[in-house]
Amino acid sequence: MSGSKYGRNIILVGFMGTGKSTVSRLLAERLSWGSLDTDEEIVRMAGKTIPQIFSEDGEAAFRDWESEAVREALDGERKIVATGGGAVLREINRKRMLERGWVVALTADKASLIRRVNAAAGSRPLLEGDAEARVTQLLATRRQAYDFAHAKVDTSAKSPEEVAEALLQGLP
Ligand code: S3P
Repeated sequence: MSGSKYGRNIILVGFMGTGKSTVSRLLAERLSWGSLDTDEEIVRMAGKTIPQIFSEDGEAAFRDWESEAVREALDGERKIVATGGGAVLREINRKRMLERGWVVALTADKASLIRRVNAAAGSRPLLEGDAEARVTQLLATRRQAYDFAHAKVDTSAKSPEEVAEALLQGLP
């Protein structure tokens, strides 16, 4: 997109299934910026999949990789950064995000989240077993986790293209 005067990173946060990765790719195309997905970075750095990291090294090790990926993503050239749903849990990550870019929280109602995560079953260790029950439980514990963002876009009734458009309209 031409005309955007926005010069800092655009950072997408939000619960699993809100569409952060897809929307970040669309935004990168529209703005002709680079994009980076912290989950993909973690897989690259660790040399194993996210389910493998959780089962072999544990969640704390995953969160360490994730903090490293957030730090690296926000250094260097401005870009669109898609973060994993739990990247906001550590204060240091929230602080870095707020300092280094425009932070947008993608939200969705529970039914939309469940539909989307079920479509990608098996890739998210925190949702293993009864995904619906796990989403309900995690949503409760993360109720305010994304409130620190500068802006919010509800993705429930929107296609990824519509979400990207709404976000571009809201660029500060
Ligand atoms: C997680 C979200 C996942 C991934 C990991 C943990 C979380 O990313 O980082 O499975 O704690 O919410 P997505 O939000 O891209 O699914």
